[in-house]
Amino acid sequence: MTDKKLPPGLHPDTLAVREAVERSQWGEHSEALYLASSFVQPNAETAARRFAALEEGYTYTRTGNPTVTSFERRLAAMEGTECAIATSTGMSAILLVALTVLKTGDHVICSQSMFGSTIKLLGTEMARFGVETSFVSQTDVEAWKAAIRPNTRMLFAETPTNPLTDLCDIAALADIAHAHGALLAVDNSFATPVLQQPAKLGADLVVHSGTKFLDGQGRVMAGAVCGTVALVDKVMGTFLRSGGLNLSPFNAWVVMKGMETLSLRVKAESAAALELARWLEAHPKVARVYYPGLESHPQHALAMRQQNGMGGAVLAFDVVGEGAEQLRANAFHVVDSTLLCSITANLGDVKTTITHPASTSHGRLTEEQRQSAGVGQGLIRISVGLEHLDDLKADLLRGLDTLT
Ligand SMILES: Cc1ncc(COP(=O)(O)O)c(C=O)c1O
Repeated sequence: MTDKKLPPGLHPDTLAVREAVERSQWGEHSEALYLASSFVQPNAETAARRFAALEEGYTYTRTGNPTVTSFERRLAAMEGTECAIATSTGMSAILLVALTVLKTGDHVICSQSMFGSTIKLLGTEMARFGVETSFVSQTDVEAWKAAIRPNTRMLFAETPTNPLTDLCDIAALADIAHAHGALLAVDNSFATPVLQQPAKLGADLVVHSGTKFLDGQGRVMAGAVCGTVALVDKVMGTFLRSGGLNLSPFNAWVVMKGMETLSLRVKAESAAALELARWLEAHPKVARVYYPGLESHPQHALAMRQQNGMGGAVLAFDVVGEGAEQLRANAFHVVDSTLLCSITANLGDVKTTITHPASTSHGRLTEEQRQSAGVGQGLIRISVGLEHLDDLKADLLRGLDTLT
């Protein structure tokens, strides 16, 4: 039983709590959780019609589940896309995109500074299937244009990037892709629809790791791809239903509850991150701060235009030091001196997380890939949560003030 029909034109903040509320016959106020692997059919004839897709109705959770459908509808509404499809993780969403959009002989262009596993998947794993990949500078629109080949099928961007918070101009990349008959896919895990809605800027596909801000409380893994019915529902949905990359109903329900507070969290974390970034920039043991909300960020103007005037919750900074060994030791010292921040690779959590990307999220890359991604040994990434800022500053000072 779905909720009352909503009026049109609602703001994403309203959609985050009201879109696609699915209730059982008992009318519970919170969304129902349909924790079921299969659904009982009223009779053989109905079962036959539903399995043949001649009649609507759930049969088996790999092919559809009401709780998962609610999550998909809510995310699509917030992203402003026709539909969304839920996947088990963010990486399985990217895998789904790769396996349905690309085929042997196709070419894909990606930023060289994306999340490590995305670089590995699109650059190394897909090469085994005869897909060619070019990596270009995230911020250089001309480089994306120059990398186009006759067989280019997709441009894949992540903005802002993990961990350096480099942006790309989504509208400019969409124009380049479309002028050459290619698709633009944007990983929106960092920004979330609260900061930007890539589809409104021309992206054909919007990818999410729901494990990050959408859940926001470090509980479950989830992913999704948003886009048109023709591509996402028909092509990707058919593949997913056979391939089994599905999101579990329980995880869908948890992420949906997280999405209800997404806007409040992202705005509060973003405001705190800006203040922390300004404060870090002034600290003598910090060599450089990477944060789009700072005037010193090379793409500050683009960030303000593209991200609803906010920088987001994630920032990174280089500690001072000479040579890779000392930089790494100094970064480890700052990380290990924290008593509050969680040393964990996840981000987008209400608990602030701190990590050393060169030895964790980007640890599996070759030194060359790491260098071109700009991830040095002195780099520390912080995903700002909801703790009081004074406590966060004191936590970082413990290590920064004792650096030699
Ligand atoms: C930007 C980005 N995209 C995708 C992923 C992969 O998501 P998941 O860990 O849910 O597979 C991550 C994970 O950190 C990420 O940071």
